Amino acid sequence: DVEIVDAAKIPYGRAMAQEAINEVLVDRARAGKFVVRLKGGDPFLYGRGYEEAQACAAAGIPCTVVPGVSSALAVPALAGIPVTNRGMTHEVTVVSGHLPPGHPESLIDWEALARMRGTLVVLMGVKNTPAIAEALLVGGRSADTPAAIIVDGSLDGQATYRCTLGSVATALETEDVRPPAIVVIGQVAGLPPALTAG
Ligand SMILES: C[S@@+](CC[C@H](N)C(=O)[O-])C[C@H]1O[C@@H](n2cnc3c(N)ncnc32)[C@H](O)[C@@H]1O
Repeated sequence: DVEIVDAAKIPYGRAMAQEAINEVLVDRARAGKFVVRLKGGDPFLYGRGYEEAQACAAAGIPCTVVPGVSSALAVPALAGIPVTNRGMTHEVTVVSGHLPPGHPESLIDWEALARMRGTLVVLMGVKNTPAIAEALLVGGRSADTPAAIIVDGSLDGQATYRCTLGSVATALETEDVRPPAIVVIGQVAGLPPALTAG
């Protein structure tokens, strides 16, 4: 007696429009149903969960948001990479790589990120990581900066490719990396992997 609505958004594949998702949430709730919206990782980190909560609020439908562990932190950890490390990295910045540096709609200050010393975690960046790496190099970040690409975190095909900021573009191509993947840039990516359950 449970209706399942496939609202998946596959990178470069089939996707349900956000407006349609919002409509289904409101429609089923108005029909008196108890609606559970399952999302990956944290619903408010590149998850458009806030828009869904707003759509419900606008329709007078109360909802509860359950935070999740974001892939931004969980996937590096699954690969044995700590996003911070005492005495080494005191900051971690999570960025979306869905737009390349210089794109008119980009809201990211890549020059500022290039000046930072900490960890950079790039989500949705497979396609644009070569341009991102280039912007960071131009901005002054060293080509020797360790980097890691983690693909399919927690899934059967989970793989980690270690490289550097200078070689990450080549690694993506050589390993034929496909989404979902996370790119970690910073000293922590050069640490020997911690023991992990996976
Ligand atoms: C639209 S964002 C959603 C992020 C999600 N809300 C979260 O907190 O994890 C999708 C991106 O998350 C990353 N991602 C999600 N699951 C992943 C996984 N299992 N392995 C690697 N990256 C993943 C990828 O960068 C992917 O492009």
